[in-house]
Amino acid sequence: MAQVDPVALKISGKAKLVGVLGYPVEHSLSPPMQNAAVAAAGIDAVYIPMAVAPDDLGTVVNGLRAAGFVGVNVTIPHKVNALRLVDELSASAEMVGAVNTLHFVEDKVLGYNTDGTGFLQSLAVAGVEPAGLTVTVLGAGGAARSIALHLAMAGVERINLINRTYDKAGELAAVVNSHLGTNPHSVARPHPWDERSLRECLSHSQLLVNTTPVGMSSHSPGQSPVQTQWLHQELVVYDTVYNPLRTELIQQAEQAGCLALSGSEMLVMQGAESFRIWFGQEPNVDEMRRALLRALRNTR
Ligand code: ATR
Repeated sequence: MAQVDPVALKISGKAKLVGVLGYPVEHSLSPPMQNAAVAAAGIDAVYIPMAVAPDDLGTVVNGLRAAGFVGVNVTIPHKVNALRLVDELSASAEMVGAVNTLHFVEDKVLGYNTDGTGFLQSLAVAGVEPAGLTVTVLGAGGAARSIALHLAMAGVERINLINRTYDKAGELAAVVNSHLGTNPHSVARPHPWDERSLRECLSHSQLLVNTTPVGMSSHSPGQSPVQTQWLHQELVVYDTVYNPLRTELIQQAEQAGCLALSGSEMLVMQGAESFRIWFGQEPNVDEMRRALLRALRNTR
């Protein structure tokens, strides 16, 4: 069960402090992943989980700054509320309207969103170039927003947004298109969540991204939002669900001969980006991945 090697982790009185604020936070996989990166880098630092109720967020962030923390990740339910605590926002965080990384620098709080950039990096690592692709995104919540906006900025040709609540797909499409400024055509289009739309959109797409919880072990294990026969070999299938690692959708994609990508890579890449922001150095991504996969196996 030990997820951090206590020998490898060197914590002195001058240790750099980082962590994650969530509510609840006990299921977060960031502590084992970040502490593995800290250990691999030989940095005198520690990353700790902190359960913080929404009403306490401002007090806790001010307290951590006063205590000399380098920064923190914020996760559900704090990603939007933390915006009001930030003095300067990265372009990504501003575009998405949410932060997942705070960096305390002198008298300022800098806010970043590494989810979308982490998603793009995970595509790059898999050799997938988004420019010019037609993409289908399932879902229209926070993850879909971040992913769709970053895909649009990366130059995809079309984003089909399919969501159970159609109006939310329409709202997200409007947000995405409004960020494209002078782009001559509307990149994002909403579609209803039905068999006809799903089949039709997938037949024209080269990338499918599932951002819904369908297939998650805690939500609907063994289920998939699509049928195998709707998939084709030119389609890259990206499931943001990472627990279980081999979701039903990932297995269907493999059966259909698609390149199948797991959401665990997005988690690794967003974490690696947070590490770079806080410590100004390159983390050992392989060690982070190994620690994450180990922690995921232990949560089963
Ligand atoms: P996240 O931050 O992970 O994106 P979220 O903001 O709660 O989480 O969004 C979850 C998305 O999954 C929503 O688009 C939701 O659809 P609705 O807008 O209709 O609520 C979608 N979703 C959740 N459960 C679903 C299910 N069983 N089938 C299809 N879509 C589902």
